[in-house]
Amino acid sequence: MKTAACIAAIMVAAISVQAIPVNEDGWTVPLHDNPSYIPNATHQVLRTWHKYKKFALSDKIGHISVGTIPFIDDGMDLEYYAFITIGTPGQTFKLVFDTGSSDLWFPYTGCKSTCTDKTLYDPKKSTTYKKDGRPWSLRYGDGSESSGILALDTFDLGGLKIKSQTIDMADTISPQFMQSVIDGILGLAFNTLTTVPGIKTPVDNLLSQKLISNPTFGVWLGKKSHGGGGEYVFGGYNRAKVGGTLTTVAVDNSQGWYAINIKDVSSKGKTLTGSFSGVLDTGTTFLLFPQKVADKIAARFKAKDNGDGTYTINCNASKLADMQLSIAGAKFKVPAADLIYDTNTDGTCIAGFGYANFPFAVLGDVFLKNNYVIFNPTVPQVQIAPLAGI
Ligand SMILES: *[C@@H]1O[C@H](CO)[C@@H](O)[C@H](O)[C@H]1NC(C)=O
Ligand SMILES: *[C@@H]1O[C@H](CO)[C@@H](O)[C@H](O)[C@H]1NC(C)=O
Repeated sequence: MKTAACIAAIMVAAISVQAIPVNEDGWTVPLHDNPSYIPNATHQVLRTWHKYKKFALSDKIGHISVGTIPFIDDGMDLEYYAFITIGTPGQTFKLVFDTGSSDLWFPYTGCKSTCTDKTLYDPKKSTTYKKDGRPWSLRYGDGSESSGILALDTFDLGGLKIKSQTIDMADTISPQFMQSVIDGILGLAFNTLTTVPGIKTPVDNLLSQKLISNPTFGVWLGKKSHGGGGEYVFGGYNRAKVGGTLTTVAVDNSQGWYAINIKDVSSKGKTLTGSFSGVLDTGTTFLLFPQKVADKIAARFKAKDNGDGTYTINCNASKLADMQLSIAGAKFKVPAADLIYDTNTDGTCIAGFGYANFPFAVLGDVFLKNNYVIFNPTVPQVQIAPLAGI
């Protein structure tokens, strides 16, 4: 037994292009902070609006008309990315992991003019590349788009080698995307959201190719104030990051993402809101509520509505209180300090929560930096616990 385990460990080391530690509870992919990340609250709200815009109740967020605002990059300037290897021999890319979308895309050598500073996937240099050839495109609010053609290749997710993974090779990317340090996105939501219907996501393939026996992935997003970083564990989770009881929560995946029910939001024991649905989205920075819900929360924290989906809030966390989200009978915290997102040049502060005009909330990084989430696409369900050490 011991020898077999040892041989297995050596094989893992040999097939893994990167030296990624294999956790006994799953396969770990570490995250890195994006050094060029510039906080801009208005921009973040608009980016999320574009991501979910087909559910928007109007083309306005507060007083601003979204329709007149120029293109917002969709999925860039995020705080975290991971190095991921594609092809044989492996070609390495910086990808954002996004539980709010389902495509795996990055630029390739067919991208001539718009990809100057990007790492380009070269299909000719990969012995495991296979042609698909169908076109794909992701369209944005102003009509600009990222587009290209589909292909298949081996995809290495922290040492788990997915064979014949459909990849969206981009030959055209937007100018905003060109400026980002990120090469592309790995979507972790359900396959009903893929740009070309019927393709299998990396998570689908992890399961169908039996690369993981436990159909879960655990997500830890690090906080800058606690050293940053983060990790995804596929086929398990990181026990050391679970700082309390794991609560099992039913997921509504009818829209292709991980939506859960929030019973209410409270602070210091006072219930501030009724119930609403929330999407767990690692690709969104903020905690965005439906506007009426956000207004009630803002009133409690004496935050001022800036009319663009953001609020100005007291810069002194000790004048605020923790926010609690009631989910499946448990309460999950966003500490007062994280209700402050950033300080403006004039010394005022932007809140970590806001609103866009959706009938649901988007539980982005402000929530996920404080709570460990284990996603299970098979049931589907999530398990949430307070993050350890926060
Ligand atoms: C923040 O983003 C908004 C919307 O994209 C933009 O209009 C504004 O100029 C940005 N502010 C800064 C300081 O970059
Ligand atoms: C923040 O508020 C606390 C409690 O009211 C106060 O003691 C402290 O001086 C304040 N800090 C700043 C920087 O204003």
